[in-house]
Amino acid sequence: MQKNFLSITDLSKDEILELLEVAATQRLRVISEMLRHQHLALYFEKPSLRTKASFETGISELGGSFSYFSAVDTGQLGERESVEDLAKTMSEYFAAIVVRVYSHANLEKFAAVASVPVINALSDREHPCQVLADLLTIREKLGRLEGFKLAFLGDGNNVALSLALAAEILGFEFILAGPKDHHLKYDQIKQTEDIDAALQNADVVYTDTWTSMGDEAEEAKRKKLFLPFQLNAETLKKAEANAIVMHCLPAHRGKEITDEVIDGEQSVVFQQAANRLPVQKALLIKLFSKATV
Ligand code: CP
Ligand code: NVA
Repeated sequence: MQKNFLSITDLSKDEILELLEVAATQRLRVISEMLRHQHLALYFEKPSLRTKASFETGISELGGSFSYFSAVDTGQLGERESVEDLAKTMSEYFAAIVVRVYSHANLEKFAAVASVPVINALSDREHPCQVLADLLTIREKLGRLEGFKLAFLGDGNNVALSLALAAEILGFEFILAGPKDHHLKYDQIKQTEDIDAALQNADVVYTDTWTSMGDEAEEAKRKKLFLPFQLNAETLKKAEANAIVMHCLPAHRGKEITDEVIDGEQSVVFQQAANRLPVQKALLIKLFSKATV
C-alpha cells in the first residue's frame, strides 16, 4: 500500500479486498500490540464523532497512543503557520497523522511534505475511510462487491465521489440523482435529475446531508433544491424491494432522510457506523505493516 491514504483510488481493487478481509477479522474487537510504542496524531479542522472515535478506539485496541488536535489548538490549516511547516513539525513527533480538512488541496500540500503516513479523515473532495466501512457493510449485507446497483440521492459531495470512484475500481454500478448544479464534476460518473430512473433496480440506496460541513451558508437554498431527492418511504418503494438503506451519518432527520426510513427494516446505518472501527484498524495495520518491513 502507498504511504498515504488520501483518496479511495490510492488503493487497488486487490488492496481494498485484502483490507476488508483484515477488517472482517477485527470485527471481534481483537486487541493487539501492532502499534505498540507508536504515537499517532489526529488533526481535525471540522467536528467529528464516528471518525474521531473509531480512530482513537482503533489505535488504542492496536496498542498505540494518540494526540488529538482541533482548530482550537493549532488554528485552521495555514492560519497559525504554513501547512508545510505544520506537516514537517508534526512528522517529527508522530508515526502517522489522521487529518480532517476543509480543503483537499491543503491535505495534498500537507501530505506532500509530511515524512510519515497521512490519512484523509474527510476533506471537501473525498471521505475514503467512510467508504471502506460502507464496502464492508455492503459485502456483509449483499454478499458481494460487484454486480449490484447503488443509487446515491442528493448532493455530489465527498461521500458521493468516494463511492463513485470505488464503483469504478470494484465494478459495481453507481448513479447519483440530484439537482444538476450539484452533480459531481466528472463526466464519466452516471448522474441524473430523474430520481425514479436512478432508483430502478437499485440494491443499495444511499443518501447524505444536503449541506456538508463548509457549505452552511447555502443551507436554506439547498433545502428547497434537494427536497425532491429526499429518501422517504415513497421514494424507497422505487428501489428493489429488499434494497438496503445507507447513510454515513450524521443524519438530518426530516431533511435528506425520514425517520421511518432511517429507523426502518432496510436501514443498515448503524452497521455502517460500527464498521468504521474494524476498517480503521485494518487500514492502520496495512499502513504499518508496510512501514515496518
Ligand atoms: N460519518 C462520519 O464521518 O461521521 P463523523 O463526521 O461524526 O466523523
Ligand atoms: N458530506 C458530509 C459528510 C459528514 C460525515 C460532510 O462533509 O459534512
